[in-house]
Amino acid sequence: MAKILSDISRTFSEYLLIPRLTEKQHIASNVSLKTPITRFKKDETPRLSLNIPFVSASMQAVSGAKMAIALARRGGLAFIYCSQPINKQASKVSRVKHHKAGFVESDSNVKPDTLLKDTISLINKTGHSTVAVTHDGTSKGKFLGILTDKDFWEYEDDLEKPVSHYMTPREKVVHGSIGISLHDANSFLHKHKKECLPILDKEGNLDALVFKKDFFDHRINPEELLDSEKRLVVAAAINTHDFKKRVPALIEAGTDVFTMDSSDGYSEFQKEAALWIREKYGDTVALGGGNVVSAEGFRYLAEETGVDFVKVGIGGGSICITREQKGIGRGQASALLEVIAERDNYFKQTGMYIPVCSDGGLANDTQIIIALAMGADFVMMGRYFAMTNESPPPKISMSGRLFKPYWGEGSNRARNWQRYSDEATDTTMKFEEGIDGYVPIVGSVNDVLDVTLAKLRATMCNNGALTLREFTEKAIITRVSEQSFVEGGTSNIVLPDQKTTKEF
Ligand code: IMP
Repeated sequence: MAKILSDISRTFSEYLLIPRLTEKQHIASNVSLKTPITRFKKDETPRLSLNIPFVSASMQAVSGAKMAIALARRGGLAFIYCSQPINKQASKVSRVKHHKAGFVESDSNVKPDTLLKDTISLINKTGHSTVAVTHDGTSKGKFLGILTDKDFWEYEDDLEKPVSHYMTPREKVVHGSIGISLHDANSFLHKHKKECLPILDKEGNLDALVFKKDFFDHRINPEELLDSEKRLVVAAAINTHDFKKRVPALIEAGTDVFTMDSSDGYSEFQKEAALWIREKYGDTVALGGGNVVSAEGFRYLAEETGVDFVKVGIGGGSICITREQKGIGRGQASALLEVIAERDNYFKQTGMYIPVCSDGGLANDTQIIIALAMGADFVMMGRYFAMTNESPPPKISMSGRLFKPYWGEGSNRARNWQRYSDEATDTTMKFEEGIDGYVPIVGSVNDVLDVTLAKLRATMCNNGALTLREFTEKAIITRVSEQSFVEGGTSNIVLPDQKTTKEF
């Protein structure tokens, strides 16, 4: 007969933290959110740590090169998705590795004969008001001029005229040459009182743009996650089918951190892939495994595969229908608590600490905070980052509001056969494990992180903690009844129209 567990599958919203003594040193500016992502022995320093405990999910709708740049600059990581051809994934990794802070590839480009009306549509689509004019309308074409929203009046000027009529032509544009340092580029901008400096190669082709605003952005990003050569750290997902081809290509492109991307990671497939990677590359790369939801699953990965970190979570993701479709999974809080307890046992027994990542189902900032208080070293999120400007899908307007498409890796749309099929050759999907929907846009990665990190630091101070380790060690957590959950919301207050004030 099947073994029936006596516990109930629980979610994060069923728990609350009881404040501990806040001493005078417990202020937000003293809090460190540094957290390990690689296994380490007692009293040793981990090979790699994140500066904030957030990574984005390896999903087509979430983690492209833009997200990887934005998150690494804040001290986290985006796992560039593997549900794409190897060369495409490698080129995204390479884009991030070659990203020079402050030098950005122009993403709004037109030809000189593009009409002003079409250029305005492009500006609205990309949200960027500086448009490069190149001979072929590409980001690397011969540079002919630049157009900003100060060069035309949308409701006064003739929208049918070509952009060459309105742009500032090359001979009048202050520009820099390839090789210029960021410092010199910014001195140029300052001296000429300009917002943007195009950087050209010897032949006059556009290479990059330097924006005044990025200079300040760079200065306020001291948490950037950099490798020993001061390049951004890059993470990528892999599957257990084509890893012998994918991993070498991704390492060649500069990947520092891998995770095996599977809805059920308690498998010999993960062991085989992990051992192959370790044998070939040793500890030079970080490698995560998962997902698991039990002590047993954690032990297997910790002992048999030698992975650096273990991801926890099956069926909790916002787009996930795995539990309904296959009847497997576990409440995310219950799964995390069991795995954390086993991780701590393993540490006591062996002296080896294995970071744990809580993956999926975090519906709001409170749940993120509870997951970290319970002992997750970092959290992986899909929906949270899908709602930002940096996620790959284009914006879509519906009923006067802006949305982005968000779909699961197990949905038909992603056709991610590697993740959900045992047969590498079977690309047909017999059933879906994820849905395809929309999420509202909430701003940039920086915007959302600023708010969440402020709340996390504040709660850590309430808990008398200045580090995440201290946070979980001091955490006293209580279960909430349905009634106290209701009490926790506002009560007996008339709220303004929910439609216009709802926070996401
Ligand atoms: P979210 O943060 O709640 O949106 O969950 C994101 C997580 O859901 C990912 O990191 C994956 O672990 C998981 N996931 C992604 N796609 C699917 C799917 O199609 N079905 C089930 N789980 C998925």
